[in-house]
Amino acid sequence: MTENSFIHRFEPATSAGSAPLLLLHGTGGDENDLLGLGRMISPGSALLSPRGRVLEHGMPRFFRRLAEGVFDENDVRRRAQELGDFVIEARKQYGIAAPVAVGFSNGANIAAALLLLKPEVLAGAILLRAMVPLSDPPAADLAGKPVLLLSGQSDPIVPASNSAKLAALLSHAAASVTHRVLPAGHQLSQADLTLARDWIGNVEAKAA
Ligand code: MLT
Repeated sequence: MTENSFIHRFEPATSAGSAPLLLLHGTGGDENDLLGLGRMISPGSALLSPRGRVLEHGMPRFFRRLAEGVFDENDVRRRAQELGDFVIEARKQYGIAAPVAVGFSNGANIAAALLLLKPEVLAGAILLRAMVPLSDPPAADLAGKPVLLLSGQSDPIVPASNSAKLAALLSHAAASVTHRVLPAGHQLSQADLTLARDWIGNVEAKAA
């Protein structure tokens, strides 16, 4: 890996035919945070889990923000490029197929940005509590890419109108979007795990 790399964890697949997962943590998390979630939703998958390179008061994130929910969009674009380049490099090093991103909160937002800016990097995405990452995204072609967007009905960070807008944006780019609004806040619930596990099982079955 080059100096442009990310601190990360990699766990090889234990079963052929399971989609590799790119695990993207929330603000203040790290590369260890989502390994358990990844194993739970797709037990045989290779797991690639980078740590966000931006620090906000010492808390790792994947891009800078100006305030909660107000993003530094130049930084979003730059960091999405960097993350995309890292995934391409890691795929070569570890010999894995294009991954399905599994992002929570800030990690879901960079995954959404990656879908819009470098769609070829991801095979699909599970976006947990995601927001629209860019106010003026380029016209992306996400034809056939499966995306599961799970939002919280009483999320104090992500207004319902924002997640609905993200679903519309991704659908407009021809992604195959499933959007569910759960009786939850910003934190994950058991329903998130069950829905994510069932959804990825279906994606893997279709790819087999
Ligand atoms: C973000 O900054 O990406 C969102 O506000 C979610 C968060 O990290 O709190």
